[in-house]
Amino acid sequence: MSLFTRKSISELQQQAAAAGETTLKRSLSATNLVMIGIGAIIGAGIFVLTGHAAAQNAGPAVVLSFVLSAITCGLAGLCYAEMASTVPVAGSAYTYSYATLGELMAWIIGWDLVLEYGVGAVTVAVGWAGYLKGFLEGFGLHIPSSIAEAPFDWVINTTTGEGHFVSTGAVLNLPALFIVLAVTVVLVIGIEASARVNASFVVLKVGIVILFIVLGLGHVNHANWMTAANPQGLFIPPQTGPGQFGWDGIVRAAGVVFFAYIGFDAVSTAAQEAKNPQRDMPIGMLGSLAICTVLYILVAYVLTGVVKYDQLNIAQPIAKGIDAMGHPWLAPFIKFGAILGLSSVVLVMMLGQTRVFYSMSNDGLLPQGFGKVHPRFRTPARITIVTGIVVSIAAALAPIGLVGELCSIGTLFAFALVCLGVIALRLLDPDLHRPFRTPWIWFVAPAGAICSFYLMLGLPSDTWIRLIVWMAIGLVIYFAYGKKNAAAVREKV
Ligand code: ALA
Repeated sequence: MSLFTRKSISELQQQAAAAGETTLKRSLSATNLVMIGIGAIIGAGIFVLTGHAAAQNAGPAVVLSFVLSAITCGLAGLCYAEMASTVPVAGSAYTYSYATLGELMAWIIGWDLVLEYGVGAVTVAVGWAGYLKGFLEGFGLHIPSSIAEAPFDWVINTTTGEGHFVSTGAVLNLPALFIVLAVTVVLVIGIEASARVNASFVVLKVGIVILFIVLGLGHVNHANWMTAANPQGLFIPPQTGPGQFGWDGIVRAAGVVFFAYIGFDAVSTAAQEAKNPQRDMPIGMLGSLAICTVLYILVAYVLTGVVKYDQLNIAQPIAKGIDAMGHPWLAPFIKFGAILGLSSVVLVMMLGQTRVFYSMSNDGLLPQGFGKVHPRFRTPARITIVTGIVVSIAAALAPIGLVGELCSIGTLFAFALVCLGVIALRLLDPDLHRPFRTPWIWFVAPAGAICSFYLMLGLPSDTWIRLIVWMAIGLVIYFAYGKKNAAAVREKV
């Protein structure tokens, strides 16, 4: 049954070892990979969502939400690390599923990864446009909303809980379109250029985050934990409703801030461009995750320690924190840092998306012509350009509220499948050489899958419906096209 056809690990390893001008270029070091991870991780999540999650769900205990989310990511990250070191081929979770769970599951996961990388890039590009508008306004430059917003928005009726589209009067979101196209050009030019651009943005954004922490720690005042709903100033404010404060709120906030961690796994999509993937994939993924976890916990602690959490339900909470510390002159730098930070997230998300599509094209699940490597740039230029055009159009039209949670649910689904895939491969091929072995696999992998599924359950039902519809569309494409074409490609080989 071709649905369950698996790619053999040795075939994948041969593919990884191939070299020449028709293959991707192996040039990324361990430091580059850690930078790519941080490039994808620090973005809209920490710069925007921390404030919402503290104000609406967890209060100062949003610090614990960051810890909970990091545990889920860490469990999944350990499983990713084993897979990426054993099967160091482009395509990440898609390729691992092809080796472990068979072609149909591989297609499902590849199609799902569009939600993580493609829709993630759309979400962050729209966030980027918002930050750019705010930043330029600080200098008296006004971008009219008609060309800097999506033409429609998704509004939820608070009484019925049902959502519907409303027209915003805008035509398109030009800055969001622009950033995606700019990133696409960098990605076509080369992996080294992409890594360099990413690294410079990462240095600046991490610098800004560290500055915020260092300046803020001295200003933290636990009296700020005290609000009307939390008169005693408890670290975990008393619960006021489902998902609102108390332990329930911490878990709900963990689902919200999960978005802030998305991206460390994008490192694994670049496995075929790493110099020493067996050793460096785990370093890139787990290293970037660990660094960002520490930074996030400190940012959350400082932010809720300098501003009362009930005032943080705003678009630019970090800038508000800086004002509260008495350094308003720093606010434009923070905003600028956020703009660069978000640019690198878009860059790495697009990198991930193009590498997954590249692998899918090579396998015939997408048209093979897309998977050609450009002889000079040594990048999958065609698929990069097509992806850039589609994602930029989506970024110009999509309302942010609709896409953010879709990205989270898609990522969590991929995490769960990778955790299950590691177990499957241990059972199917116990003696395979694994440069990195997930420790306590029989605990870590099931726990990773369960935690991911648990966070998925916390997402709203309309996000679930979108996931199901997206997957159904994917299945139609697979049975109408991918299955036959992939079989034809296999026969040719
Ligand atoms: N983790 C990325 C962000 O926060 C997606 O923007």
